Amino acid sequence: MTREQIAEAVRKLGRQITEDYQGKDLTMVCILKGASVFFTDLIREVDLPLSIGFMAVSSYGSGTSSTGVVRIIKDLDQNIEDKHVLIVEDIVDSGKTLHFLLQVLSQRHPASIHVAALLDKPARRVVDLKTRYSCFDIPDAFVVGYGLDFDEKYRNLPDIGVLHPRIYQNA
Ligand code: IMP
Ligand code: MG
Repeated sequence: MTREQIAEAVRKLGRQITEDYQGKDLTMVCILKGASVFFTDLIREVDLPLSIGFMAVSSYGSGTSSTGVVRIIKDLDQNIEDKHVLIVEDIVDSGKTLHFLLQVLSQRHPASIHVAALLDKPARRVVDLKTRYSCFDIPDAFVVGYGLDFDEKYRNLPDIGVLHPRIYQNA
């Protein structure tokens, strides 16, 4: 995906969220670090009063597939009770991370809770997970850029591209 394609998809998603959350007390939650670039672009395309929050959960380390063990590294610093919560994530792969996050945050009694993901790899799903919003469905390939990393690198690339397997086979 080029930066132009991404920007257009993010604008479109921002308009959709603006429509859907009219008159609602919206809190958008960024899942660090992968969603950081997407998140800062997306919130500026949402024309509503809203709050933002940040969470970090354990990720893959330097591998390319999920361990299935999800841990909160940094929690929200605000109450989400009675708020309409929108979790903003970079990519849904196995779905385990979001499954865990939805479970944890639902217990805090939000008015509603949904997911906006930049990318979705439906072929890799191992848990049943519904994302209300996503920008692009992609095939089963490891991608980097626009916030997405491999071993903490490539997050600053403005476009999204497939990582050559040579890079992680040698890791
Ligand atoms: P899941 O729990 O398997 O759905 O994994 C989701 C997390 O894995 C995402 O938040 C990403 O940090 C990471 N991830 C999954 N696929 C990719 C990829 O293709 N590139 C970079 N990170 C990925
Ligand atoms: Mg990651």
